[in-house]
Amino acid sequence: MKGDFPVFNRRFGGLELAYLDSASTSQKPGVVIDAVADHLRNHNANVHRGVYALAEEADAAFEGARGRIAAFTGAEPQATIFTKNVTEAINLVAYAWGRANVGAGDAVLITQMEHHANIVPWQVLCRERGAALRYLEVDENGGLSLAALDAELARGDVRLVAFTHVSNVLGTINPVAEMTARVRAAGALSLVDGAQAVPHMPVDVAEVGADFYAWTGHKALGPTGVGVLHGRREILERMEPFLTGGDMIASVDSQSASWNELPWKFEAGTPMIAEVVGLGAAVDYLSKLGMDRVRAHERALTGYLLERLAEVPGLRVVGPAGTDGAARGGLASFTLQGIHPHDVAELANRAGVCIRAGHHCAQPLMRCLGVSATARASVGVYSEQSDIDALVEALNSGRAVFGL
Ligand SMILES: Cc1ncc(COP(=O)(O)O)c(C=O)c1O
Repeated sequence: MKGDFPVFNRRFGGLELAYLDSASTSQKPGVVIDAVADHLRNHNANVHRGVYALAEEADAAFEGARGRIAAFTGAEPQATIFTKNVTEAINLVAYAWGRANVGAGDAVLITQMEHHANIVPWQVLCRERGAALRYLEVDENGGLSLAALDAELARGDVRLVAFTHVSNVLGTINPVAEMTARVRAAGALSLVDGAQAVPHMPVDVAEVGADFYAWTGHKALGPTGVGVLHGRREILERMEPFLTGGDMIASVDSQSASWNELPWKFEAGTPMIAEVVGLGAAVDYLSKLGMDRVRAHERALTGYLLERLAEVPGLRVVGPAGTDGAARGGLASFTLQGIHPHDVAELANRAGVCIRAGHHCAQPLMRCLGVSATARASVGVYSEQSDIDALVEALNSGRAVFGL
């Protein structure tokens, strides 16, 4: 599998690359790099406006990729909108839906385990509209309580509940279908942040049942610069646009304009054409592997990661207890007694191991956990046990360097 990813041909100080930072961004297979290069080299033209053959090829590549990307998560192409990333997808909902539907006396409910991308847009919306922003607590096992969700919904003021499918810090896989069903029954809308789910496990947005489901291409073997928002079509149809300008209009006169059909109503200006083509190649690659197999591979590796980390004295993993990879996505965040997480990452780097250290764009969660930072190891389709062995070796020798 690593052979499909050119970056693994590189050596760092003579060492092979042990890339354990896939939760931050994934590496790219050669087929994605080639698809982007081939598009730029041979099929480049703007989309939705040319009548010549080259422009028709660009259109077919762009809209064809939309169809395959939508199918990858069981969504409709018309309700599959391209954004810059998941952050922009969430902002789209906060602006285009939130400004029209959330007001004084209303509440938006999120959780303590959200990435800043799923916190700050709601803070800004609620502050502007005089609404309340409330949080579902994370329990001691890194999970959310459905009873607490019910209690919040029973207050009657919640207009939207936004939560992550898989936590980028705890690894927790939330019971998203149960949650969206409860939110719906209470007459509120749901938004699920699928950034850490779609690249790693089979996701069917119809089964998840969210009104909005967002994810980001660069974590799913695709290029940077492309994110995806799946929305419930009838809601998207009622919404005003987010960004305005070219391509998103049906007609424009001197004082007003009417909007294009879905999904283009939400795609103002020239879109990220080569990036969408690249993401199309990425989902083709993942589909060929089979997302069940991807999940099985990563689940086994996560189990191995948790077992090996448990051998390191003074190491504490946050999130669901135990060493069973079934309870979490492909990552483990941890602290190591006596060594700051940034030093842990630097020690790993010296051994050719890439891990992330910091607050992982989840500062409210860090406060709940009582830490300012953690180190995080995360796996992808290309990861192997040897990467984890290299990490554990680096941690053990790091402890020795620190005299622990
Ligand atoms: C759960 C989660 N949500 C949102 C994001 C933001 O992704 P992007 O920077 O691609 O918008 C990330 C990225 O780390 C994430 O892990």
